[in-house]
Amino acid sequence: MAKIAPSILAADFASLKEEIVSVEEAGADMIHVDVMDGHFVPNITIGPMIVEASKRSTALPLDVHLMIEQPEKYIPAFVEAGADIVTVHAEACPHLHRTVHLIKEQGAKAGVAINPHTPVDVLKHVLADVDLVLLMTVNPGFGGQSFIEGVLEKISAVKTMAEDGNATIWIEVDGGIDDETAPLCVQAGANLLVAGSYIFKKDDRGEAVRKLQGGE
Ligand code: DX5
Ligand code: ZN
Repeated sequence: MAKIAPSILAADFASLKEEIVSVEEAGADMIHVDVMDGHFVPNITIGPMIVEASKRSTALPLDVHLMIEQPEKYIPAFVEAGADIVTVHAEACPHLHRTVHLIKEQGAKAGVAINPHTPVDVLKHVLADVDLVLLMTVNPGFGGQSFIEGVLEKISAVKTMAEDGNATIWIEVDGGIDDETAPLCVQAGANLLVAGSYIFKKDDRGEAVRKLQGGE
């Protein structure tokens, strides 16, 4: 069964703690935190202070997705604030291998994300060093966008690449995940699903999580 990581980007920030508790009680496996800098993506969201507040709101691991330029400058601050997994974009890291190892040296698990148009080949020579690959299924920057189907073949390709290299990794998908797109991703090989609007816009979040898990 795939694990579920609700993205707090779709939460009501006026009640952030209650929102996080509600998805924890709904059966979520981790909390996905979208960090945007207004440069790498055309939106600005949150920084280490909100990560620290989120950490105090839940016992679940924090899966922190950095959509920022020069992430190496801020990785120590995000780990210090409580990030359990830190994911950087390959497109933002000219020295990706070094950045992945910086995350690990700080004591967090390391993930690498790629945009919908970025070929999976960029992952090949860091796959043995990462805990997670995040395949964007929308162009990053905003919640509530439509799933890009062309990414499905990239999920299968990463799964094959991981199997060939004997690498045990999370294959995470992010963007436009709902009860129709989740099964397609899982079938292709994803084992960690991020969902923002699909979960937070529902009154019954337990049902939303179960549906994504493939339960009902
Ligand atoms: C997009 C973010 C996603 C976003 C997903 O840039 O990385 O995590 O919150 O939102 P939905 O599930 O609404 O597409
Ligand atoms: Zn994200």
